[in-house]
Amino acid sequence: MSISFTRLDPTGEDHDALIEFMTRNEFPFHVRARPSVEDVEGKISEGAYRNEDNDSFWIDHGQLGRIGFFRLEDLSEDSPVFDLRLDTPFRGRGLGSPILHEATKYVFSAMPSINRFEGQTREDNTAMRMTFVRCGWLKEAHYREGWPVEGGSPLASVAYSIIRRDWETGRTTTFVWNDLAV
Ligand SMILES: CC(C)(COP(=O)(O)OP(=O)(O)OC[C@H]1O[C@@H](n2cnc3c(N)ncnc32)[C@H](O)[C@@H]1OP(=O)(O)O)[C@@H](O)C(=O)NCCC(=O)NCCS
Repeated sequence: MSISFTRLDPTGEDHDALIEFMTRNEFPFHVRARPSVEDVEGKISEGAYRNEDNDSFWIDHGQLGRIGFFRLEDLSEDSPVFDLRLDTPFRGRGLGSPILHEATKYVFSAMPSINRFEGQTREDNTAMRMTFVRCGWLKEAHYREGWPVEGGSPLASVAYSIIRRDWETGRTTTFVWNDLAV
């Protein structure tokens, strides 16, 4: 299965396709499940898709063609985070893990100073959480009521990360949660 990332130009040739992708799909586990054209235009003008902190890519699959969108955030800090959104017809087909695997490889290969790569998702986003675990990412935090839900009660935000050492060795190191005798 070959996955590649094509850097997108949010203010140039990919502007219309980006708006079309974001408004055509529903993202039930994102804070904004149905972004409007104005929402996406606003994010483009803020530089949320490309500036010194952010970069965005189309996800291309060798046989299936363009299957989704991937964005890196906090690139000027020590630990970038990401946003991954598959086009609806390509969800639930086991593509999340090979994509996250490639994304992790991309970050640790192209950015030698980066030691940690992080991600967060809503507690009920089982597909994303399984994707993290299958790719060797470790759950590091469970922020209770930390994820606002439009029209509902907040849910937990669950944080995962992978460190360079674990990516290199292929072994997920863990830690002792209850490490204080109280
Ligand atoms: C999250 C996302 C990237 C996951 O990729 P995916 O290719 O759809 O995920 P997969 O098909 O590999 O599913 C992963 C596993 O979760 C399981 N799963 C999914 N939903 C489930 C549910 N509600 N209950 C139990 N298991 C579930 C799948 O069965 C699969 O396990 P399996 O391989 O043993 O069958 C993709 O669904 C997506 O883009 N969703 C919308 C955007 C989003 O939420 N992005 C996350 C932001 S960080």
